[in-house]
Amino acid sequence: MTTRWETADVLKSPMEICWQFAYEIDSQKLKTLYSKAKKYQWDAETDLDWSYRVDPSRPIMEDDVIGGVMRVPLMGRLSGSQREQLMAHLSAHRLSQFLHGEQGALMTAAALTHAVPDYQGKLYAATQTMDEARHVEVYARYIQKLAIVYPMSTTLKEIIDRTLTANHWVKIAIGMNMVVEGLALASFHNMLQVTPCELLRKILQGVLRDESRHVAFGSLYVGDALTAMHPDDREDIADFAFEVVSLMRRARRRDAPPDPGFLSVLDHCNIDRSEFFASVAELSASGQRFEAPRDQIHPFKHLMMPALVRVGAVTERARARYKAEGIPVWEDRRTLEQFEDDRAFA
Ligand SMILES: [Fe+2]
Ligand SMILES: [Fe+2]
Repeated sequence: MTTRWETADVLKSPMEICWQFAYEIDSQKLKTLYSKAKKYQWDAETDLDWSYRVDPSRPIMEDDVIGGVMRVPLMGRLSGSQREQLMAHLSAHRLSQFLHGEQGALMTAAALTHAVPDYQGKLYAATQTMDEARHVEVYARYIQKLAIVYPMSTTLKEIIDRTLTANHWVKIAIGMNMVVEGLALASFHNMLQVTPCELLRKILQGVLRDESRHVAFGSLYVGDALTAMHPDDREDIADFAFEVVSLMRRARRRDAPPDPGFLSVLDHCNIDRSEFFASVAELSASGQRFEAPRDQIHPFKHLMMPALVRVGAVTERARARYKAEGIPVWEDRRTLEQFEDDRAFA
């Protein structure tokens, strides 16, 4: 086997690695998560029907879940086949983010296995590592049916890189299990509501069930660690959480610079970039706003912010920073708690 260094990207981590010689389990909840994780391992190779043919004329996603690009006036002037092609590329672009994000999750889970100070935490993190490996496998295989893999979005890469190279395992658990997985859980859920692709539905159901454990771990494990920390260290963690959340928020603003991957979607579909952005400006000037359908999960409002508040990663000082940045500190945990119950995805 040859390592393909030309497509590799190497980072250095300041993380401390921790042995633990007390092989005791004192958290029943963590033990339950670990037991469930062992029991619910599914196998993408044998449990899914890969002979399923993805119909290129039927979009696997609806415009609603990929940001409403089709509402831009220019899209009304495209031919039917151009619209089809654009939807197919937008879908491939979105699925590519899932794929790359899962690789990030695989590495952060492995890092947690090294770094968490408790035996039970290590066992759990090892199961998450295996879950994420299966997720990378399943998305890598599905994406072959879409013919193209787009590069990772620069913001997602930056957030996961910061998480991977953080100096404390709590930052890793926050960056991945709360922030990135909050985004992923919302995207997977919203896509599951609308995709007509049977194979993708099965994949999303399996992945969502695993992810519900990952989000539950974040709150279970990080809360206790934060409570036990010196206040200065807690502020340092809260700053990290604020920085990754605000990076993600900024990238979603209308005036954010477009992601290079999205620009190459336009290029692949022969849509002129400047014409496209002129048309976006036309839509904004008309005062129309894109409203997501009501049953969609909002990653910040329903998952990320309530999870951060619950574990104590939003300190008073951090609240002021969120306010100054215009990010509401949503605290309603009802949706988050529903998502942590894997029976919802059985
Ligand atoms: Fe995953
Ligand atoms: Fe995950």
